[in-house]
Amino acid sequence: MDPKFWLTAWEEGRTAFHSDAVHPALPLHEARFLGGGPHRVLVPLCGKTLDLAWLTARGHEVVGVELSEKAIVALHEREGRAPTVAPAGPFRAWQSPGLTVLEGDVFALTPDLAGAVDRVWDRAALVALDPERRARYVAMLRALVAPGTIVMLEAFDYDQARRAGPPHAVPEAEVRALWAGARVERLDERDGTEEMRARGWEIERFLVTTWWIELG
Ligand SMILES: C[S@@+](CC[C@H](N)C(=O)[O-])C[C@H]1O[C@@H](n2cnc3c(N)ncnc32)[C@H](O)[C@@H]1O
Repeated sequence: MDPKFWLTAWEEGRTAFHSDAVHPALPLHEARFLGGGPHRVLVPLCGKTLDLAWLTARGHEVVGVELSEKAIVALHEREGRAPTVAPAGPFRAWQSPGLTVLEGDVFALTPDLAGAVDRVWDRAALVALDPERRARYVAMLRALVAPGTIVMLEAFDYDQARRAGPPHAVPEAEVRALWAGARVERLDERDGTEEMRARGWEIERFLVTTWWIELG
């Protein structure tokens, strides 16, 4: 998907991926994922998710990365935040207490811009990327974060032959191959078939898995 695809999706309001609730995996796994904090949590391809405010409200420093200015404006308006906006390398950095949103292409992210990240919340980020770009994305994240970083990832599995993404299918074998060398554990799994059928997806089965990925 080129940037235009996503910018157009935001312009046209095709944002079915957005939820008006905090993602349930965060409160469910809070003690384990976020215990011993505060942490610096990277939320790549963050859209206008409510997860950002939920994380900052718990004292974590949050860095979101998002292409769409429209999404970024919407999230700040919703949260009643008045960010400062300034250039930061190839990005525009929207800064407010506890939250930096970098407006631009996630592939331009560098350790300097991301800061000392030790947690990554990947919700609808990896699965939003074309197969060709997923390995590059994971390599970039690995180069960015501190040793011992935990990545919590939500990934989907369904018959990709029946339906083109995004969101793409990223089955267990691919998660494990992408994150080879890290400790990969399945945290939970649920059946999202009915939910996706309600969105018009004619598929047999849609599996939603939360993965725990611990970098050595
Ligand atoms: C499927 S949405 C998920 C948004 C958010 N994580 C959520 O859960 O609501 C993917 C988001 O990534 C953004 N995006 C896509 N490619 C990107 C890129 N290369 N760099 C930064 N953001 C990107 C899109 O604009 C879109 O908001």
